Amino acid sequence: MEKILVVDDEPSLREVLSIMLKRAGYFVTSVTDGEEAVELVQKEIFDLVITDLRMPKIDGMEVLKAVKSASPETVVLIITAFATADSAVEAMKHGAYDYLTKPFQVDEVQLIIRNALEKRRLTTENMLLKREMASQSSFAQLVGQSEAMQKVFDVVRKVADSKSNVLICGESGTGKELVARAIHYNSARSTLPFVAVNCSAVPETLLESELFGHMKGSFTGAISNKAGLFEIANGGTIFLDEIGDTTPTIQVKLLRVIQEREFRRVGGNQDIKVDVRIVAATNKDLEKAVADGSFREDLYYRLDVIPIRLPPLRMRTGDIPLLVNHFLDRFSKESGKSRPVISAEAMHVLLDHEWRGNVRELENLIERVVAFSTEGSVTEGDVHGWLHRPTTPSQPSAMPLDLTDEGVDLEGLINGIEKDLLLKALERSKWVKKKAARMLRLNTRSFRYRLEKYAIKGGRD
Ligand SMILES: Nc1ncnc2c1ncn2[C@@H]1O[C@H](COP(=O)(O)OP(=O)(O)OP(=O)(O)O)[C@@H](O)[C@H]1O
Ligand SMILES: [Mg+2]
Repeated sequence: MEKILVVDDEPSLREVLSIMLKRAGYFVTSVTDGEEAVELVQKEIFDLVITDLRMPKIDGMEVLKAVKSASPETVVLIITAFATADSAVEAMKHGAYDYLTKPFQVDEVQLIIRNALEKRRLTTENMLLKREMASQSSFAQLVGQSEAMQKVFDVVRKVADSKSNVLICGESGTGKELVARAIHYNSARSTLPFVAVNCSAVPETLLESELFGHMKGSFTGAISNKAGLFEIANGGTIFLDEIGDTTPTIQVKLLRVIQEREFRRVGGNQDIKVDVRIVAATNKDLEKAVADGSFREDLYYRLDVIPIRLPPLRMRTGDIPLLVNHFLDRFSKESGKSRPVISAEAMHVLLDHEWRGNVRELENLIERVVAFSTEGSVTEGDVHGWLHRPTTPSQPSAMPLDLTDEGVDLEGLINGIEKDLLLKALERSKWVKKKAARMLRLNTRSFRYRLEKYAIKGGRD
């Protein structure tokens, strides 16, 4: 319910406005002077403030300034019997939404208020939409045919519409965020906000104010009141990513909002109620964290109402061909290139790979393959080239043969050169191992030993 503050020293007008707005379904507070109003807006957030301009002591203009500094998003309407062009311009300059002259029709005020709040809602929605667009790729659809993934889709479909909390566990890059979005966008909440928060990316104090908001002056730098992400997500879904990295303080606060569905802003003394669906994710073993005391057990059970475990890609290799084709389609469409065809040998290499970075690693690889493809086909060599590219480019010509006082990592240097030459030989020989071994004047056995040492897979004998 939207909150409106009515400020007027004239009792009859104050009464009429309050009654009319309450009837229209708003939550109304009214005060009799500017002083009280200024005090109140420091402590509470209103969606709209409607204030008289001429009042003893503190006037409407001062109230307007106080509101705008405490909560810039609040809509302010000014009422006055002394309409002059000057005061209207002045009020608008300080951020008033509109200007009403007494006497006015109650209907007219109601319409203006409805429009103002509607406009504000659209602005918020627009902001959220922009946030979502910034993570465009996240709209990509979930792909998978393995039994494990089919089960995940099943759970997503079944629980999307419930209010129960969800905990998604899985290694990095397995698609936890994508699943969280799928839950939201398949639910009745899909038109309301989906707000993702990475709990590990920000320090504790900042995270607290991010999640719950803060009141002006509650800490250095809190120059105005600010709504937290739980408020912004109201009606929708909040995605608490990397929940395993939260500190005990944050864990207690999360427990409270989960249990009571209410919280306080940092420095605030008002309980704020919200209706938010919570989806959390982690790549940590939370059960272990509970056992060693770094994660609250009660919070764990509150979150793990609907558990979703995403298996690593290497445990569901059946999904690889589907994902490869999905990403080939997507990246060629995005870059306006013709879609390359992948050879059977190349697909084998992908099926054999470890995929420590899971789907994200595969996605990145296909993106590079498409970006560099010129011949409309993806060969085994292309795939090997990208899979085993040395992380730090070793350039023998620029090798630091001079030894300084800093010293040099001899082993690392030699390994780098060795791996680089193995790959170069394989590439030149089109991944025929015997040929590559000959190029390096190694016998087959010691060549194989070295391939194993550097986890270079694939190729033919
Ligand atoms: N099943 C899938 N189908 C299509 N794309 C997927 C699938 N799973 C993951 N992806 C893609 O892989 C990338 C990584 O997925 P996501 O960000 O959801 O992983 P994550 O588990 O949240 O990883 P992290 O723990 O590193 O944050 C994304 O770009 C996503 O679009
Ligand atoms: Mg993630």
